[in-house]
Amino acid sequence: MEVLVIGSGAREHALVRALLDDPGVDRVVAAPGNAGIALVAPVEPVEAADPAAVAALAVRLGVDLVVVGPEAPLVAGVADAVRAAGIACFGPSAQAARLEGSKAFAKEVMASAAVPTAMAHLCTSEEEVAAALDAFGAPHVVKDDGLAAGKGVVVTSDREQALAHARACLAHGPVVVEEFLDGPEVSVFCLTDGESVIALAPAQDFKRALEHDEGPNTGGMGAYSPLPWAPADLAEQVVERVARPVVAEMARRGTPFAGVLYCGLALTSRGLRVIEFNARFGDPETQVVLARLATPLGVVLDACARGALAAQPPLRWREDAAVTVVLAAPGYPQQPRTGGVLHGLEEAEAVAGAAVLHAGTAPAPDATGIVSSGGRVLSVVGTGADLAAAREVAYDALERIGLEGGHFRRDIAERAAAGVLA
Ligand code: AMP
Ligand code: GLY
Repeated sequence: MEVLVIGSGAREHALVRALLDDPGVDRVVAAPGNAGIALVAPVEPVEAADPAAVAALAVRLGVDLVVVGPEAPLVAGVADAVRAAGIACFGPSAQAARLEGSKAFAKEVMASAAVPTAMAHLCTSEEEVAAALDAFGAPHVVKDDGLAAGKGVVVTSDREQALAHARACLAHGPVVVEEFLDGPEVSVFCLTDGESVIALAPAQDFKRALEHDEGPNTGGMGAYSPLPWAPADLAEQVVERVARPVVAEMARRGTPFAGVLYCGLALTSRGLRVIEFNARFGDPETQVVLARLATPLGVVLDACARGALAAQPPLRWREDAAVTVVLAAPGYPQQPRTGGVLHGLEEAEAVAGAAVLHAGTAPAPDATGIVSSGGRVLSVVGTGADLAAAREVAYDALERIGLEGGHFRRDIAERAAAGVLA
C-alpha cells in the first residue's frame, strides 16, 4: 500500500513514522511536510487546503490511500475531492467535518443524539450574549462558532472580558455561550468508518502556554498517555455514550462521518461531558498515542477509509507510557518569531526512547541546517516503563536542543507521574 499524508505538523510526522513502521505500507509521501518529515520520507509541495490540488497530487503519485492531518483541508472538502478521484481517503467529508467546523452544528448533533455536553446558547447579538452570561453565571465560556485554531475560546470570570470576546466574534458570525465544565480534560480519538467505532488510548493535552496552566490557550504544549488516574473503562464509555451515538446520528442525516472523531471531554462530578469535537487527530496527543500503539497503523486507517472497520481485530498497545513536550518559538502563541537556528537535534534523537518530531521547521536558507518556521517548532516524545521514566527521557532529549528564545513547559505530566489526580 502507498500512502500520502497531508499536513506539516508534528502530528503528521508521527503519522508518517507510524505508517513507515507498518509492514503493509510500501511507500509514504508527505505534502507539504516539514524539514523533519523530509529526513524520513519524500515530500511534495501542495496547498493542503486546496481540494483539487491534493486530489491531483494523489492521482499523480498513484497512492492507494490519502490520510488528511489538519482540519482546514477537511472543512474545505479535500476528502471529497480525493474520493471523487477514485482514491481512498482517511478523513471525513466537508459536510461531516462540520462537527469541528461549527460548534453550533456540533451542539445540534449532540442534542439529537442525546450526548452529554455543556448547556449552551447560540447568540447573534450582544444583548443575547449578556443574557446568556447572566443565566449561566461565572466562570464564563464564550466561543467563536467557526474554526479558530484553538484561539477562539475565552474562559474567564471577568464579565467585561467575556463580552469583549463575544463582540469581536460577533463581527464575523454567531457566538456560543456555555456553562462552565469543571473537572479534568481528556482527549479520546475514536476511529470510525461511518458505522463501526474503535477508540484509541485516552491522552491528556496541556493547552495553556505556561506552567501550572497559566497564560493564553495554545494549540497544545504537551501531552501524555496513559492516564493512570482515569477510569479504566473511559475509552469504552466514550464509544458507548458519545462516539457511537454521534456516528449513528451523522449516518441517519445522510452525512456519514468516517475518519477520526476527536472527543474532547471534561470528566465532571456529574459524569463525562463533551467540550468539543474535532474531525481529525489531535496535536500533540497523537504523538503519544501512536508511540504506544502496537497494531500497524496503515491497515487500520485503510479499513476506516474503505468501510471495513468491523472486521478489524482489537487494537494492541505497548506497556510503555509516553510523554511529549512541545518546544515553542519565542513569542508563541501571540507573535511567534521564526528563523531561529536549531541545534542539537541529532544528540536529542540519540537519547534512548526519545523521538524528535518536527512541526514548524524548514531547511536553513543556506542549506546548512534547520531553522524554526512556525509557533510550535518541535514535539519531543519520550517513552518509558511509566510516566516518570517517559518524562525523564523527553526532558533529557529536550535539554540537548538549542533554539534562542525557545520555550517549553517543565510540568508536562508531572502531577500524573507523581500519582496526583490530573
Ligand atoms: P475548545 O476549542 O472548545 O476545545 O475550547 C478550548 C479550551 O477551552 C478547552 O480545552 C477547555 O480548556 C476550555 N473550555 C472550553 N469549553 C469549556 C467549558 N464549557 N467549560 C470549561 N472549560 C472549557
Ligand atoms: N491538542 C488540541 C487539538 O489538537 O485541537
